[in-house]
Amino acid sequence: METKIFKKENLDDAVELLAKGELVAFPTETVYGLGAIATKEQSVKNVYAAKGRPSDNPLIVTVANEQMMAKYAKEVPDRAKKLIKAFWPGPLTILLYVKPGALPDAVTGGLPTVAFRCPDDQLTHDLIGRLGYPIVGPSANTSTKPSPTTAMHVYHDLKGKIAGIIDGGATRVGLESTIIDLSVEQPIVLRPGEITPEQLSSVLGEKVLINTGKVSDKDIPKAPGMKYRHYAPSAPVVIVDNPEDFKKINYSEKTGVMALETVLEQLSIPTENKFSLGQDLTAADHNLFGGLRYFDEMPEIEQIFVQGFDEGETSLAYMNRLSKAAAGHHYRNNN
Ligand code: TXA
Ligand code: MG
Repeated sequence: METKIFKKENLDDAVELLAKGELVAFPTETVYGLGAIATKEQSVKNVYAAKGRPSDNPLIVTVANEQMMAKYAKEVPDRAKKLIKAFWPGPLTILLYVKPGALPDAVTGGLPTVAFRCPDDQLTHDLIGRLGYPIVGPSANTSTKPSPTTAMHVYHDLKGKIAGIIDGGATRVGLESTIIDLSVEQPIVLRPGEITPEQLSSVLGEKVLINTGKVSDKDIPKAPGMKYRHYAPSAPVVIVDNPEDFKKINYSEKTGVMALETVLEQLSIPTENKFSLGQDLTAADHNLFGGLRYFDEMPEIEQIFVQGFDEGETSLAYMNRLSKAAAGHHYRNNN
C-alpha cells in the first residue's frame, strides 16, 4: 500500500480515505495519532494490526467537542463537564462509562469505559468535522516504539501499512495527553501529561489521585497500555539524575547522550553522539521522543544516557516516559 502524505490543502482527500474505512495518521498538540472511524469495527481492528498492538489495550476516541462525545458516553458527569470547560480542546483524555452498543468492542477492549480526547489542533477538528464521526487515536507509532512527534516519525514506522498521513509539522507538547479516570469514585490520573494533577484538582475542587504504577492495590484501575514495554529504543537507556554525573561517565563512540544544551556544552564527545533536549524542561518534553528515535537510527550506539529531572509535578510526564524507556535504570544505581 502506498502511504500518501497530505498537507492541509488536501484535507478532503484524507477525509475521503477515512470515510472509505482506511487508516490515516493525524497531528495533535501532543503526538501524532492513528485515525480510523471509531464506529467501523474492521477499520478499528486494522489499527491494532498496523501498530502491532495487543488487542486488550483499548483505543482513545477522538472527538470534535462535548456534543459528539455525549453520543458515545453513557452519561457525562458534572466532573467531566467542569474539566471539559477548563481544558478542552487540549491535552486531557477523560475516561467515562461507554454507552452500551455505541462503539465496537475493539475500541474499548471490551471494557465498560472509553477514553475521550478533544485535541487542540485545527486540522484535526476540520478533519473530524468534515467526516462527521469520531476517530480512534492511539499514538501513530509501532507498538513499543516512542510516540511520533513528526509526520516523518509516523512514515518511518507505518509506511506501507496505512493509507495516509496528514502533515501538520512538529507537535507542540511532544508527550501524550494526561488521562484522568472519572468512572471511579475518586478521580485518578492514569497517565501524567502536560495538564498536572494540581490543575485538575483545582478545577474539580477535590483531591485527584495519581497512579504511580507502583501501587499494589489491585482495586486501582490502570490504563492497560501502561503495563507494556514502551518508548524503548533498541539500545538500553540509563537515566542520569544529577547533571554533574555526566562528567563522570566513560564515553565511547558507542554511547549516546541526551541532555540540556548547558550540560552538553561541557562534554567533549563527538557531536553525532549528542542530542540536545533544548534549554529547559518544556523543551525536553518536546524533544524526548525525537532523541530516542535519533539514537535508534544509529546501530553502533549501545547505551544512551538521558538527563532526568526532579521538578515535582511539572516533570511527572517526562519522568514517566523516560522511566519506561529506561526500564527504571538510573546511573547512580547502575555504575
Ligand atoms: O495524546 C494522546 O493521548 C495521543 C494522541 C494521538 O491523542 N494518543 C495516545 O493514545 O497516546 P495511546 O493509545 O497511545 O495511549 C492511550 C492510553 C493507553 O495506555 C490505553 O491503555 C489507555 O489510554 N486507555 C484507552 N482506553 C482506556 C480505557 N477504557 N480504560 C483504561 N485505559 C484506557
Ligand atoms: Mg501509545
